[in-house]
Order: sequence, then C-alpha cells, then structure tokens
Amino acid sequence: MHHLREALEQSQKNGLAIGHFNVADMVLVKAVFASAQELNVPVLIGASGGEREFMGVRQIAAMVRSLREEFDFPIFLNADHTHSLAKAVDAAKAGFDSIVFDLSALPFEQNVRQTKEAVEALKAINPDILIEGEIGDIGTGSEIHEEAPDLTKGLTTPEEAKQFVESTGIDILAPAVGNMHGMLKSMVQGETKKRLNIARIGQIKSATRAPLTLHGGSGTDDEDLRKAIAAGINIVHINTELRVAWRRGLDEGLTKLPNEVVPYKILPFAVESVKQVALSRLRLFNNK
Ligand code: G3H
Ligand code: ZN
Repeated sequence: MHHLREALEQSQKNGLAIGHFNVADMVLVKAVFASAQELNVPVLIGASGGEREFMGVRQIAAMVRSLREEFDFPIFLNADHTHSLAKAVDAAKAGFDSIVFDLSALPFEQNVRQTKEAVEALKAINPDILIEGEIGDIGTGSEIHEEAPDLTKGLTTPEEAKQFVESTGIDILAPAVGNMHGMLKSMVQGETKKRLNIARIGQIKSATRAPLTLHGGSGTDDEDLRKAIAAGINIVHINTELRVAWRRGLDEGLTKLPNEVVPYKILPFAVESVKQVALSRLRLFNNK
C-alpha cells in the first residue's frame, strides 16, 4: 500500500476512515507515526500553511518519505488548507501525496473555476497526487475558541456537492456537515462535544460517490464519528486535540524535570501525551 489512493480505496471498502493528524514539529510526527505503527493502520500526516512554513515544505516531505521508506509503512503527507496555486505547486513539487486546495471562502462559481484550474496544474506535476476541494463554511483555526460560530448557515447541500465534484475533477471532497475547526473551552474540558449532521453526510455521499473528508474532528462526539464514517466519511482530520496534548505533555516534562535542559529528555513527555490521543482516535476510525 504505497499510494494514498490505494489506502483510501482499501479503507473505503472496509468501512473505515484514515486518520489525518496535523504536525508542526518532530514531536508530533514521532507520536503520530508511533501510534499508527502500534495499530498497524495507514495514516495521513497533515501540514497546513503555517505548519509548512515553520517546518519547511521540503523538510517535512523528506521526513515523512524517510519513515515510509525505512519502515515500509503506509504513512502519507497532505498539504492541508492551501489557499493559493503557488503554494500548492510548491507542495506538489516537494512530493506531497495530496493537497487540500481550499478556496471555500470564495463565492461558489469562483471556487469551482479556480479549483478546476488547480487540479489540472497539479496533476501535470504529479499525476498520482490527490486533490481535495472544499465547499461550505467550517470556520478557521485549530485553536481554542471563545464562542462557536453559527454553522447551520454554511452546510453543504448534496446538489452543490455533486456540481462541485463533477465540474472540478477533484479526487476528494471536504463538505460542511456541522463540523468546525478548533475547540471551545468546554470541549477541551470534555463538557461539550461537536455534533454532526449524519443524514447530510449520507445525502452528499449518495449524490457524489466521492471520497469525503471530515475536517475539524477534534472534540467530536465518538458515536457521531462512527456514524459519519458509516455514512461515507473516509478521512478524519484531527489537529486541536493533538495541540492540547502537546502542550500538556510539554508542561508535564518541564514540571517533572525543573532543572533539565536536554531536549530529548523533556520532549518524550510530549510525544507520549500526543501518542495517547492519536491512538484513541485511530482505534475509533479503524474499528480496533
Ligand atoms: O485541517 C485540519 C483539521 O480540520 C483539524 O480540525 O483542529 O478541529 O481537529 P481540528
Ligand atoms: Zn481542516
């Protein structure tokens, strides 16, 4: 299983979803890879604009490729939320397996036209690359938000989903189905959960028959995630939950070792903390 397309087809056939986890440093990469290895399931590493800028587009590509090759393991790399063709081209040239070409903030017709152009340009660089397009409003920022946006207005309709998939030639669609990026404080504390519109996911799947990605997975109700996967979600994105775990693990390391300055003695606390979150999400997505 050395191509993302193959892994996606396989998980779709088995009624499972591929876990997509955003990374911003090697702690996160190590933790996500270790959890996927432990469960022996394919995994997608995501790096959005800010994350790629911090790590280096070619550097994160080299790191993920080296893990895939050394361990002969289905770990793939996605250029998450890419808002311009120039940045998407950089990622395609660096060897990313997929790109989320995200013009969801633009009016629908403009989004269609520019996404179609991007699909053609990016497939000319790498015919195997998978392009995901996005419609609807799911907010921005994998951070802790003070208040929830009104998500009901921006729900993707099955009709526009079908039109978008057919006119752009995208491989994967990211719809708005009640999901949102980031977490509310009450979600971090485990008091509230995000809820999904499962019926809408099923309708979008029937209308498009396309692989679907659920963005904004952090803080989503476990049962809703299971139902969403059964209704046709094939990839689930998790970022904020890992960021919270990263911060907690780092705090723990610094508190337990107040006089330590050796990074590789402090950072394993963060790796372990992130790994536990990734493990529990991967178990759910892969029915393990
Ligand atoms: O693309 C990234 C994801 O959609 C992450 O969303 O931070 O709510 O997990 P999240
Ligand atoms: Zn996202």
